[in-house]
Amino acid sequence: MMDSPCCISGFTTFYRDNTVLRVLGEVILPSYSQATIASVGCSIGKEVYSILLRNWPEREKIKIDGYDISEKRISMAREGTFEVFELESLNEIEKIKKLNIPKELYTLRPKSGCSREIEFSEEIKNMVNFEVHDISQEPLPKKYDVVLMLNVLMYYPPEERENILSNVNKSAKENGWLLCESEISDGWRNEKIKQYEDWMGDISRFGFEKQPHYPRIYRLANRSKF
Ligand SMILES: C[S@@+](CC[C@H](N)C(=O)[O-])C[C@H]1O[C@@H](n2cnc3c(N)ncnc32)[C@H](O)[C@@H]1O
Repeated sequence: MMDSPCCISGFTTFYRDNTVLRVLGEVILPSYSQATIASVGCSIGKEVYSILLRNWPEREKIKIDGYDISEKRISMAREGTFEVFELESLNEIEKIKKLNIPKELYTLRPKSGCSREIEFSEEIKNMVNFEVHDISQEPLPKKYDVVLMLNVLMYYPPEERENILSNVNKSAKENGWLLCESEISDGWRNEKIKQYEDWMGDISRFGFEKQPHYPRIYRLANRSKF
């Protein structure tokens, strides 16, 4: 497996998409007694840890796997130690503190200048699983109740998005959910955002039916015919 295509950034933060995390935690998960979740394009894993920590009281109910095309990012995700920056507008340390997780589950220490480092405990790291996988080439190795694919598809031209969505279709259980980003926050030009939004506006041809709550949330209605 190769490293990520250089044009695809690995930018990510803890708790990046509050809307997605809220819908997952408050609308979707309560309807499952046990739920399997995949984060596709999870980068260095902050998204996966954010899901686990935000749903900490329900942790026995969920099983989360993170996938990324980049071996380097997956190995950083497995290490579970991250530099967090304190000068961002919505400071990452504050976001972590708001999660209200028990203090013994992580260690915070100064790093350089205006950043600190957070290291998750073995207990937390043992609850998540990370694998290298290229979703444009094949479906995930298992089928999931919920597939998150945040800030990934937009970087691909339409013809490659088709392969990816066809593989995501095969990676979701019957009636499974597909959650993409609720907002585009990568400093894109308006015209490019509009093209992407229009394209994503109707992905029913890949078997996904649009749901309420925010613009890019879907459920698998039909198995892909591709
Ligand atoms: C901008 S980051 C998004 C990270 C995280 N999902 C978030 O929203 O904060 C995009 C990630 O998708 C990964 N990626 C790109 N193409 C992929 C593919 N075909 N299969 C799996 N991961 C991919 C990249 O390596 C990168 O880490």
